[in-house]
Amino acid sequence: MSLSVEQASAWRDDGFVVLPNFVPGTQISALTDRIGELVDGFARSPGEATTVFSTTERTHSQDEYFLTSGGVIRPFFEEGAFDSEGNLQVPMDRALNKLGHAMHDLDPVFDNFSRTPELAALVSDLGFVDPLLLQSMVIFKPPHIGGEVICHCDHSFLWTEPQTVAGLWFALDDATVENGCLWVTPGGHRQPARTRFHLDGTGTTTDVIDPVPYDMDSLIPVEVEAGTLIAFSGLLPHWSAPNTSEDSRLAYTLHVIDDTADYLEDNWLQRGPDLPLRGFA
Ligand code: FE2
Repeated sequence: MSLSVEQASAWRDDGFVVLPNFVPGTQISALTDRIGELVDGFARSPGEATTVFSTTERTHSQDEYFLTSGGVIRPFFEEGAFDSEGNLQVPMDRALNKLGHAMHDLDPVFDNFSRTPELAALVSDLGFVDPLLLQSMVIFKPPHIGGEVICHCDHSFLWTEPQTVAGLWFALDDATVENGCLWVTPGGHRQPARTRFHLDGTGTTTDVIDPVPYDMDSLIPVEVEAGTLIAFSGLLPHWSAPNTSEDSRLAYTLHVIDDTADYLEDNWLQRGPDLPLRGFA
């Protein structure tokens, strides 16, 4: 078992578990260096990469660039990165919202990081029988312009029948209230998802299952040091505030589903036959 009794009961009762010092400092440096190389590459040849990822404005959600990003590594920008004429106001490493969504399959450094015996053992302890690594993101949350991520649960976006998705959130910087740490509702994973975002013809739509808004007063901040892993249920409501500080809040996230469940064909994230989902092997 990789979880203590207390950690296992936190996972069961609260819907999330905090594992400090999961990532050694040398690995944080390796990931940070690799992220720097990728960002430099995008800065040298940005191409058509001007899509903003905003959970408040949802401008990305009908965008081909987003909808075809399940099997590639693409940069997405923060809303505040551009001036009114569409020009970048800050250097690339301070402009990005995220890289997504197949870091774990296409980048050797992230592949190695995402497929360790320790992570496989943890995911087994979380209850997975036949895990598949579905989605990965580097989330930048840059100083001053890192935006709010509205309260949601990940099952709404990565739907399996029955629900299986879980998020693994690796802090690569210290995450604080000031720089936009995760906030969660302990025990909120016992409630069903309130929305479902899915493909609808050539675009996407959001079905409202329960119109009652999330109780923002039930959220608590999860401030963690760099190297901490937060594992959370796909049903756990979570939120993060804008980064109003001078400090970046870099994180890597990995979403895992169980192949014993059905991954729906109208989920936004679809893989082609050239890049099938894989587990930890
Ligand atoms: Fe999320």
